[in-house]
Amino acid sequence: MTLWGGRFINESHKLFKEFNKSLSFDYILAEEDITASIAWSKTLMKSGIISKKEQTIIESALFELLIEIKNNIKNILKSNCEDIHSWVEEKLINKIGKLGKKLHTGRSRNDQITTDLKLWCRNRINVLLENLIELQKSFIITAEFNHSVIMPGYTHLQRAQPITFSYWCLAYVEMLRRDVSRLKDVLKRLNISPLGSGALSGTAWNINREELALSMGFSSATNNALDSVSDRDYVVEILSSASISMMHLSRFSEDIIFFNSGEANFIELSDLITSGSSLMPQKKNPDALELIRAKCGRVHGSLISILVILKSLPLSYNKDMQEDKEGLFDAIKTWNDCLCMAILVLNNIKIKNKSCRKAAEEGYSNATEIADYLVKKGVTFREAHNISGQLVLKAISEKKSLNNLELSTFQMYSPLIQNDIYNNITLESCLEKRLSKGGVAPDQVYEEITKAKKRLNIF
Ligand code: ARG
Repeated sequence: MTLWGGRFINESHKLFKEFNKSLSFDYILAEEDITASIAWSKTLMKSGIISKKEQTIIESALFELLIEIKNNIKNILKSNCEDIHSWVEEKLINKIGKLGKKLHTGRSRNDQITTDLKLWCRNRINVLLENLIELQKSFIITAEFNHSVIMPGYTHLQRAQPITFSYWCLAYVEMLRRDVSRLKDVLKRLNISPLGSGALSGTAWNINREELALSMGFSSATNNALDSVSDRDYVVEILSSASISMMHLSRFSEDIIFFNSGEANFIELSDLITSGSSLMPQKKNPDALELIRAKCGRVHGSLISILVILKSLPLSYNKDMQEDKEGLFDAIKTWNDCLCMAILVLNNIKIKNKSCRKAAEEGYSNATEIADYLVKKGVTFREAHNISGQLVLKAISEKKSLNNLELSTFQMYSPLIQNDIYNNITLESCLEKRLSKGGVAPDQVYEEITKAKKRLNIF
């Protein structure tokens, strides 16, 4: 049965019914719909719309329903109801009869759906925050464990300057910290209750919306009913946060895929998260990471989709807004799955110390050091840069690393270069000099790891 049949003479077409239904996806809001309905029943009671006894009966029946769905939420899908709100109401009426029909007094599905959705988002955000923290912990532990591993840092995917594996890990910790801060920010704006907004202009019943909001853990009630039922900013904001964080995860994936390639050979991925080829027996493919990289696109798609759905939508509620859910549900699940997968990848990674170091030694990544050395001897940076570049060219032609050039060769390019050049261009020296805040110096990195461990309660 529909919630709105009175005004109609004819039944809706079978095809339209199917087209209009949202139960197949909004059933996952069942728990939230029941929670908000219990809170609403208490508000109705406090305002004298139903008696204390009636409220108790409604609450117990809804509670019973909650236990039933916790046992098997998928049972809901057997129903023919239009959406989750109709389903909860129908079940309530089946349980307690006519009294169940009082619950919708002063309420609309328009304020109901956005309340349910906000409650659902709030719960999911808490899980996501936990996993964003877990992933940070994995990075910190990997960083600590690989403190002494030197590898090349890249720009343009060209070996640029030496860094450490720890330092690379800490870069991702910074990104994840921003993801956490963004999500917490979303939570602040989201956690305001729309319930009691009615269809669009508020409810004609004398209810205390602030008290109702607080009873559901919201920080306050919304200020304008017209906005409350139209607002899906929080969906856009969550999907933006998801998109940015997924972009971070896809860059992580791409880095790891490269580190794991035969060409780089910096790490070995665990059998736990790789797969083989059906044809080529030697293959061990980084599927987990390739999937994270691709799923990023899927989440970005959901963000674009909600933006386009909401663009130019007149106030207030329009059925278009039913299309907010599938993309959101999918994106949140995808994001969370990817976080869990990234944790699994990192916790089982093996870093190949020797080949990392070899690559850092081979890539002329200490060329900046020669320029800086000359600057200290009074040469301008531009000039020093040029001399260092010529030395790189010379080293390439002699098939040597810069460290292996003869002193006489160095001096052909600048007589200012002395024997102390060699100590100045070791990988260790390159790292140690970068001690200023945010630099790669091992002492600095160690301090950052210590701070992060404190912040994340890692002992
Ligand atoms: N299933 C609807 C949605 O997800 C619920 C709200 C329906 N409101 C209405 N006026 N038809 O948006």
